[in-house]
Amino acid sequence: MSQGTEAAENAVDGAEAESVAARPGFHRVVNERDGKVFEVKHKELLLMSAIQQEIDYPHNCRVGTCGTCKTKLLSGKIRPLVDFALSPLTNEELAQGYVLACQSMVNSDLRIDVSIGNHVTIPYRRVSGRVSSWRRLPGQVIDVRVRLDEPLPFMAGQYCQLAESGSFTRRNYSFYDLPPDPDGEGAEEVGFLVKYIPGGKLSGWLNEMNRTGTKMWLHGPQGRTGLEDEDSDAICIAGGTGLAPIASILADRIRRHPGTKFTVIFGVKGADDLFAREVISDLLEQAGDRIRFIEIVSDEPDGTGWEGPRGLVTDALTPDLVDDYSTKAAYVCGNLPMVEACEKKLVELGVDPEHIHADKFIPTGA
Ligand SMILES: Cc1cc2nc3c(=O)[nH]c(=O)nc-3n(C[C@H](O)[C@H](O)[C@H](O)COP(=O)(O)OP(=O)(O)OC[C@H]3O[C@@H](n4cnc5c(N)ncnc54)[C@H](O)[C@@H]3O)c2cc1C
Ligand code: FES
Repeated sequence: MSQGTEAAENAVDGAEAESVAARPGFHRVVNERDGKVFEVKHKELLLMSAIQQEIDYPHNCRVGTCGTCKTKLLSGKIRPLVDFALSPLTNEELAQGYVLACQSMVNSDLRIDVSIGNHVTIPYRRVSGRVSSWRRLPGQVIDVRVRLDEPLPFMAGQYCQLAESGSFTRRNYSFYDLPPDPDGEGAEEVGFLVKYIPGGKLSGWLNEMNRTGTKMWLHGPQGRTGLEDEDSDAICIAGGTGLAPIASILADRIRRHPGTKFTVIFGVKGADDLFAREVISDLLEQAGDRIRFIEIVSDEPDGTGWEGPRGLVTDALTPDLVDDYSTKAAYVCGNLPMVEACEKKLVELGVDPEHIHADKFIPTGA
């Protein structure tokens, strides 16, 4: 048994039943941090159950790789679905009894310690629809839009799981549109930017041919990257299709928070991969005075005529890029190494880690 599993199982031994019993077949979960109490059905996942109950539980990937849902288990019994020793939890956290809520099946009443937010969350649902448009963008990216059979609410920066009808392959993709009016029913059509990964099940299937008319299932919305710091000036960093949640956050802030300003850094390998302008052209046109847009390429050969900045997105984060980093929020979306490098550099430059919000595009399927 791994160190992480032991830490989780050890917490059981000293567990004491809570004084108020849960309904039969359910367990009572008490968050000692804020006194919040909720019930989880026996053997259900702690995170999913909390999300279903519209609890603003910290999470991102839901597959045990980002570490956002880490929770201190003070007492009670969970069954880990993965080996926590191989998860993002550090040895120190494992020794202190931390678990990943997204990978914890609840087997008894629990006492936990986690920072639960106060945002209104949207219940997760399953909605069908058909691909209404499919087009190739530069950089082996497909812009796919799905016309939904019933409206789906979502918030800026959220994502859903997407699957072809009849297939077991489900992957996370972020909405790139302006979120629907929170007082309305939801979006009738949604769009995603999907990067083709050679050998990738879903991105390969989508890339193969025009999929217009295909029935799809969406499970969501999920994620909370764009819920914080709504009225702050922000630095938005997108690596490749990390642009999707950034575009949605930008559209939302431009509409709802008129005073805010944004520095957007978009990084790809070569100048031929630059697809962002096509996606955010309307925003740049409407609010160009509020958006400073920087494109940077990492592997563009010399002599191709590219005169813009070269390097990784972190190279664009220079000390004089913004007037005072400590007053800014940051949203960072893209692959894991890129996000981690940006988080580190932003902190070095003075951004408060509490105001850095990241969406890590970690591989989400088997
Ligand atoms: C919260 C979240 C939001 C996401 N949003 C988006 C989005 O908006 N757009 C988008 O394109 N992707 C997004 N992703 C990634 C996406 O969910 C899939 O993981 C990705 O599209 C690969 O799926 P696949 O079925 O094509 O490949 P798979 O069949 O799952 O993987 C095939 C192989 O490729 C590797 N692989 C998977 N992803 C990558 C990668 N990014 N780089 C290099 N190798 C990889 C796998 O490890 C595996 O070896 C997001 C992921 C998360 C966690
Ligand atoms: S590890 Fe649980 S949400 Fe990412």
